[in-house]
Amino acid sequence: MAETVTAATKIAQQADAADGLAAGDAASLLRFEDVTVAFAGEQPVLNRLSFNVRRGETRIILGAAGSGKTVLLKTAMGLIRASGGRVFLFGEDVTNKAETELFGIRSKLGMLFQESALFDSMTVAQNVAYPLLNQRAIVMPKDQMEPTVRSSLRFVELENTMDKYPSELSGGMRRRVAIARAVVTNPPLLLYDSPTAGLDPITAHTIMALIVKERDANNTTALVVTHRYQDGNLVANFRYNPNSGRLDPVGPEGTNTIFMVMKEGCLVFEGSQASLEACTDTYVTKFVKRPQLEAA
Ligand SMILES: Nc1ncnc2c1ncn2[C@@H]1O[C@H](COP(=O)(O)OP(=O)(O)OP(=O)(O)O)[C@@H](O)[C@H]1O
Ligand SMILES: [Mg+2]
Repeated sequence: MAETVTAATKIAQQADAADGLAAGDAASLLRFEDVTVAFAGEQPVLNRLSFNVRRGETRIILGAAGSGKTVLLKTAMGLIRASGGRVFLFGEDVTNKAETELFGIRSKLGMLFQESALFDSMTVAQNVAYPLLNQRAIVMPKDQMEPTVRSSLRFVELENTMDKYPSELSGGMRRRVAIARAVVTNPPLLLYDSPTAGLDPITAHTIMALIVKERDANNTTALVVTHRYQDGNLVANFRYNPNSGRLDPVGPEGTNTIFMVMKEGCLVFEGSQASLEACTDTYVTKFVKRPQLEAA
């Protein structure tokens, strides 16, 4: 049966051809091979984790508090180092690379930290400009700085807050600024740590809609940590429509979304939404039920 080739698939294929990969063999952007992380003398907080994120995928990472989701993302970035196993970024083994050797590769990663982690003493514009000024692999001419920051803030519909301070914004607006900061360098791989945590349902939806828009407008690959099943459901079943600016249901072809469930540092589930919903494991099913159904 002929496969539906979307514009995003075509772009991914062109990028893979540039990487010397055959069609259908999408490049690996992040690979964990038997990765263990243990802090001094403690039990491992990541326990022999293996997975491979290919270009064009969105990974939804679910799991209880303390199961290792943030440590997973920080290990991917090289902010936490693996005690065992290997981490590959963009095909390159970064496990034991010195901090200085990571600058180039880090510039291809965008990260939204848990709780946004904006600098309170900087304006919104300064916060968004931070990666442009502080990632040593990025050299941007001074005159391009302001338009780049502005365009990133326009993407999250907060262009009018350039000169405000984070304390003057609502929690949802701060999260949007954090997204603008994560995407300002146009990274092909984005890591979002709990982008909807602590937000009301409507604001959480707005944030997830931005994440879907970023994926579809820029063909980015992403890992999204969340406690909310509906966040994964939105990513898996909706696509950004550039003409209407809204999200449209994708129909049966779906999107390239893979779910992962973490439990006590181990990856206990990895697969499609359909197989997640069919999974009968009692721990895994806790993350599938929607809150309104649980409440009923
Ligand atoms: N720097 C550190 N030193 C020691 N232990 C740590 C460190 N960072 C995280 N941990 C431990 O690693 C485990 C996993 O933490 P992590 O922050 O990844 O959880 P999480 O899944 O992101 O939880 P949450 O949903 O609450 O954000 C926890 O037991 C935590 O205490
Ligand atoms: Mg966390």
